Amino acid sequence: MSAAAMLAGHLNPATSSAWQALLRHADRQKETGFRVAGAFALDPERASRFSIDAAGLTLDYSKQRIDTQTMQLLLALAAERNVAGRRDAMFAGEKVNTTEHRAVLHVALREPAVGARQHIVDGVDVVPAVHAELARMRAFSEQVRAGAWRGRTGQAITDVVNIGIGGSDLGPQMVCEALRRDIHPRLRTHFVSNVDGGDLDRVLAGLNAATTLFIVSSKTFTTQETIMNARRAREWFLASGAQQADVGQHFVAVTTNLPAAGAFGIASTNCFRFWDWVGGRYSLWSAVGLSVMIAIGGDAFAELLAGAHAMDEHFVTAPLASNMPCVLALVGIWNGNFLGASSLCVAPYAQDLRRLPAYLQQLEMESNGKSVALDGTPLATTSGSAIWGEPGSNGQHAYFQLLHQGTGLMAVDFIASLALTGTSPEHHRVLLANCFAQSEALMCGKSADTVRAEMRATGMAEAEIEALVPHRTFTGNRPSNTILLPELSPCSLGALIALYEHKVFVQGVIWGINSFDQWGVELGKQLAKTIDTELAAGAVTGVHDASTQALMQRAIAAMADRR
Ligand code: F6P
Repeated sequence: MSAAAMLAGHLNPATSSAWQALLRHADRQKETGFRVAGAFALDPERASRFSIDAAGLTLDYSKQRIDTQTMQLLLALAAERNVAGRRDAMFAGEKVNTTEHRAVLHVALREPAVGARQHIVDGVDVVPAVHAELARMRAFSEQVRAGAWRGRTGQAITDVVNIGIGGSDLGPQMVCEALRRDIHPRLRTHFVSNVDGGDLDRVLAGLNAATTLFIVSSKTFTTQETIMNARRAREWFLASGAQQADVGQHFVAVTTNLPAAGAFGIASTNCFRFWDWVGGRYSLWSAVGLSVMIAIGGDAFAELLAGAHAMDEHFVTAPLASNMPCVLALVGIWNGNFLGASSLCVAPYAQDLRRLPAYLQQLEMESNGKSVALDGTPLATTSGSAIWGEPGSNGQHAYFQLLHQGTGLMAVDFIASLALTGTSPEHHRVLLANCFAQSEALMCGKSADTVRAEMRATGMAEAEIEALVPHRTFTGNRPSNTILLPELSPCSLGALIALYEHKVFVQGVIWGINSFDQWGVELGKQLAKTIDTELAAGAVTGVHDASTQALMQRAIAAMADRR
């Protein structure tokens, strides 16, 4: 597909006839006072009609403010926006990242070696190179896990520290937490990302340099935070009595920039590579997952890839009406663009998935936080969504109040595992009860009459009842999805992550934006360099607004006091 064909008809979704029809449909829903709870009463098939099973996962989207017509209109929008064509272009290795002239082929990273689809970049199938690198990762991981890869004093590695940020941190960290029960008993994994020196201090404080392996993970190998942390980790290592020649036993790199890793002092034999067609926030499946593979082993890592691949296959082959990522994307568009939902709360009912919302923040907000279409013209619609959340049931005792009774509309994705996530069946039963109760409460709400009747039954005085009724009423009709995993395993986690990756892609196509660049992070990086030069010199010499100047002067004064 040529760039022109890719752009054609994909600039401003608001002008499409399907978009206009959806606007009218949303108005009608408002006028008629559509209630999801009422729709369930009228349609005994609703729960199964609006549920999809794929790649081992179940998506129940029946508690969304939708009816059959809503879905038909949303699917018409997907057809008008050529979602299927754009998906196929991505899988075929077209340079769909138009501002960086790059293919987007994270799906090739989880393509099996045997019976694989080809993924062609510039005329070459990349799948063999993917498997060659996976084999190198596996050989190295097995050595570390078996205790055969030894530190400078001959001891086995006990601690693995991944130094990286953004996509070179959030994915592996989230997966290592999620699968912590599968981690090799001798090994501990740690993640250092923040340029706040306290982050590295905290991790190093408990470590023995002689048994620690550092993985410096950076696609570009130029990211300030990562390079600073890696340098200081190396200083700490050398200060333990190690020699420069010992660095090779304790530092490896994961990067697309082998020369920069070499300049840092990591030999190419200690470098694991990936490619420019892997976006940072889509890189978990590449060598960026090395810390994961060391932690859980090559076989479990292969299951993670297999789970993601199963979702890829579903995404490419299932009709859009029963295509889980597509439907998840469309209900998100419905909530955000037509019902005015201001954000998406991701509430995993699994403590081990506590880093999932942070991971999805980068995936969704860095991908779709754009305000111009592919051709650079301003978008006429809202794009992207604020993603946030904490594990349930904790969240119920913190932010759920706003979800239930706040003035604004927020959508929620509940995520739960049917198999135990701990050792106690009772805890797990109560966990699931809370998860299901929250989506039921958000949807059904509680009417003033019910509230009155409940209070009357306690013998409360009428005057007090009337004073309390508005406070104790729940409007309900608040949209949520529930995603069920059979278990929190590498395979279902892989499928879950791939589900969200493809959802983000579909939404980007609907909005007509490039989901694969991130120019919005550049300005702050540039300004930080200038400001840091001035802070280091102890004088504000550049032109800054009065606020920035005053803040810098306070920081300079504090630094002078420390001297
Ligand atoms: O600054 C944003 C970003 O480029 C992310 O997209 C990326 O995941 C992160 O920084 C880290 O980049 P790198 O892996 O090149 O260090």
